[in-house]
Amino acid sequence: MDDRPASTVSALEYDPAPESAAVARLRESYGLFVGGAFVEAADGATFETLNPATEEPLARVAQAGEADVVAAVAAARRAYDKVWRKTTGPQRSKYLFRIARLIQERSRELAVLESLDNGKPIRESRDLDVPLAAAHFFYYAGWADKLDHAGFGPDPRPLGVAGQIIPWNFPLLMAAWKLAPALAAGNTCVLKPAETTPLSVLVLAEILQQAELPDGVVNVVTGDGSAGAALVASPVDKVAFTGSTEVGKVIQRRLAGRGTRLTLELGGKGANIVFDDAPIDEVVEGIVDGIFFNQGHVCCAGSRLLVQESVAEEVLHRLRRRVDQLRVGDPLDKNTDVGAINSAAQLEKIRELTDWGEREGATRYTSPCALPERGYWFAPTVFTEVAQTHRIAREEVFGPVLSVLTFRTPEEAVAKANNTTYGLACGVWSEKGSRTLWVAERLRAGVVWANTYNRFDPASPFGGVRESGFGREGGRHGLEAYLDV
Ligand code: NAI
Ligand code: MG
Repeated sequence: MDDRPASTVSALEYDPAPESAAVARLRESYGLFVGGAFVEAADGATFETLNPATEEPLARVAQAGEADVVAAVAAARRAYDKVWRKTTGPQRSKYLFRIARLIQERSRELAVLESLDNGKPIRESRDLDVPLAAAHFFYYAGWADKLDHAGFGPDPRPLGVAGQIIPWNFPLLMAAWKLAPALAAGNTCVLKPAETTPLSVLVLAEILQQAELPDGVVNVVTGDGSAGAALVASPVDKVAFTGSTEVGKVIQRRLAGRGTRLTLELGGKGANIVFDDAPIDEVVEGIVDGIFFNQGHVCCAGSRLLVQESVAEEVLHRLRRRVDQLRVGDPLDKNTDVGAINSAAQLEKIRELTDWGEREGATRYTSPCALPERGYWFAPTVFTEVAQTHRIAREEVFGPVLSVLTFRTPEEAVAKANNTTYGLACGVWSEKGSRTLWVAERLRAGVVWANTYNRFDPASPFGGVRESGFGREGGRHGLEAYLDV
């Protein structure tokens, strides 16, 4: 074993291997997608989206006002009444298959665009975001003509018009999670991407045109929270939201008593629980994947490591060495492991919470990696000596920051893992199946991974309990959110 202090073990040197930004085919400006056409906002308002790795503007994008949202919802209503509700399952399947195939065809362009607009490493957008987005359309294409057999009665009905609001951490993938089941079930949609990452969804809108999806079946309104609020206030039949618990609560209050269906996928403070019999090198990879994947901008991130006391020292030693080897930098470089923080605001939030970590007495370990001068960056960070009362153990940091706690018995692990207001995801690492099942049964979380972390599959339902929200996306369960059952 290598006993040198972690910081002297340098990362392997790699030559730069950048993907070309030109592949993204950026345009100077992008419009709203309403009734099958790209249009300007009624009042001509626009905003800029940046490349968080350079702070340079990428494009100007239309800022939807109330009138634009009303027009988009009206277009979706017309499309629902006149066209989409009359389509058969096999017809909807055909459109969804086409969309999936077109995403695959334009996958390189989408991956580069996603990395430019979001800051995530191209390795992740290329190997995860884009293929999984296509997989969701393929998966729900398979359900569209089998709704009678989905377990919701002989002839389940769609809800009508769905208003869908998504965050910036997985822009294209979250759009796919929302649109694919909604369309398969026979709904029409108005989708609002996040203000820092609108571009890949607008290319997806182009793909919908290419697929000859009837006009108005999907509409995209870009803009900030005010556009989202206008969508929630509009006469939609269903609202699906992924984002912060704070905004989720605002939406829930806003819809109270209106009869509009609602599903919420909110924040998390996932526990990654490591028992002393788990294979340590695999565990270390799982911890790294759990918290440093996508810069930790992941609602189900394993942001709390609960490690059994008897192996804590060894696990942490190997973890620090591994953290030192993470390559942080240019998101378009194929060797990059950790990209840019999505926005100045998110970087500020991460800094504030990590400052609190130190102030409240936790011990901070920061990767010695060099950070680029421009752009929003945060070096991978591990806090030990964390107490359950610390803010970094309770609040969602949504950044590359791990809080480590220890436990002695399975009972203590479960108690600590459940000591959170959230309930989205957890991981359990052990060689013993019976122990894993005993723990998994007692965890209050929508998803429990065993000997892996951040594993996604369109066939597998995903969603939370408690302040992580309600409703499921993915799998057969994901259809229920868009059917009148
Ligand atoms: P946010 O919840 O404000 O944004 C998510 C989406 O909601 C965006 O499209 C935004 O424009 C929209 N929105 C904002 N205010 C709205 C309103 N009043 N009505 C309707 N839609 C509205 O999240 P934000 O500010 O980007 O991030 C803040 C924190 O939230 C993060 O630090 C993180 O902890 C958490 N978060 C969690 C996510 C998750 O996947 N669970 C995703 C994004 C953020
Ligand atoms: Mg951006």
